[in-house]
Amino acid sequence: MENLKLFYEDALIPKDKILKTAEELRPEIEKVRNVISKGYVDDRASVNLPDDEEMLNTVKSTVEDKLSLEPKYLIVIGIGGSNLGTIAVQEAVLGKLYNLLDPPIRVLYADTVDSDLIGSIIGIMKPALKGNGNILLNVVSKSGITTETIANFRILIDLLRKYKREYKDYVVATCDRDSELWNLAVKEGFTALEIPRKVGGRYSVFSPAGLFPLGLLGIHIEDLLKGAKNMREACIEMELERNPAAIVASIQFIHYKEGKNISDLFLFSSDLESLGKWCRQLMAESLGKEIDRNGRRVNVGITPTVSVGSTDLHSIAQLYLGGPYDKFTTFISIRDSRLHLHVPKMDGYSDLVPGIDGKSLGEILNAIFEGTKEAFRKDKRPFIEVSLPDKSERSIGQFMQLKMIETMYLGHLLNVNPFDQPDVEKYKRETRRILAGKKTAQ
Ligand code: PA5
Repeated sequence: MENLKLFYEDALIPKDKILKTAEELRPEIEKVRNVISKGYVDDRASVNLPDDEEMLNTVKSTVEDKLSLEPKYLIVIGIGGSNLGTIAVQEAVLGKLYNLLDPPIRVLYADTVDSDLIGSIIGIMKPALKGNGNILLNVVSKSGITTETIANFRILIDLLRKYKREYKDYVVATCDRDSELWNLAVKEGFTALEIPRKVGGRYSVFSPAGLFPLGLLGIHIEDLLKGAKNMREACIEMELERNPAAIVASIQFIHYKEGKNISDLFLFSSDLESLGKWCRQLMAESLGKEIDRNGRRVNVGITPTVSVGSTDLHSIAQLYLGGPYDKFTTFISIRDSRLHLHVPKMDGYSDLVPGIDGKSLGEILNAIFEGTKEAFRKDKRPFIEVSLPDKSERSIGQFMQLKMIETMYLGHLLNVNPFDQPDVEKYKRETRRILAGKKTAQ
């Protein structure tokens, strides 16, 4: 079976310098190693999700149970770490246009409190419910008290119960055990799935937060976890040259220290755009910190951006190749696409763009990709390439696990806590205060 490959010859950093920085990671690698198989005891414990069989079995039986209701729609109500991973895997594996391909179960995401968005979801739900179609609501909130999620949940469950006497059977709440949402679920008789307390939102895609909706949509969640587990083993390797998370974190860190504080993830596949957004949250929320681990005010952070090839070559590449030398790029390539489409040979069309007659779109995209890398190389713009064999569950699981452990290692190098988000909490607190009609403390 083919694996993810990392190429870093164009990082423009000598290998001995990368390995010297990676040496600093040894204590952190040791900590990740120590947490494996010890349960959910430490903030790094998300690395134990890929082999939590009890959790997997609970998710699988819940999926089976809810599939027996023959739902036509799944509505995932959640935001940030509670839905970005699900969207990322769903689109990567099933495709961005999945809902339009007449699948057995369509999926909609209710994240922000935007009346137009939620109004459109209601507009889709109503005729289905009127026609006696079944709809599942999966409300996902680790804390169980996120304003947007709970507001949307209340609107959508109110609609559901107008049409379904047994509406409780159609609700799955995924959250921390004993949170307000958990208690409500128990009281109301909804199915409740637990996110282990030590697993933070943006590290929770391999917990029921991601596994339940993905499993329901027919994604092979075992393969996703197998890919993650296989990558985890590589990322705790003490022979640093063979540890992709240590290598990539070290390269990112060196560039950041040298003034490249923008990290662009340039994904050469439309279906991976949301995977890019998941990575963006992971990097920004984990590493953008005011205070370091010693309590000093540092205001550090790498600014993550997401680009899609070849689309964004026609949008932002001018800046990347002509603008300031403040960026480091990670290209993501796919070695094998799901479909192989060819440009037909047609009389009178060959002169429009010479050289594409009979070629597959994959070959053309690859030529564009090679051309892009060459332009970056000639311009001394540093980059690395992560090459995935395909967009299967296993490959995506490998990639996501790599990024999560890489983020932990970057947190160590930057001396910040990659597991908290104190400044996001600030806005959440303020919002709750405003909504409760309380005055701000001076
Ligand atoms: O990664 C995180 O911790 C955050 O992005 C949260 O997932 C997000 O704020 C939503 O929080 P919750 O899952 O508690 O509703």
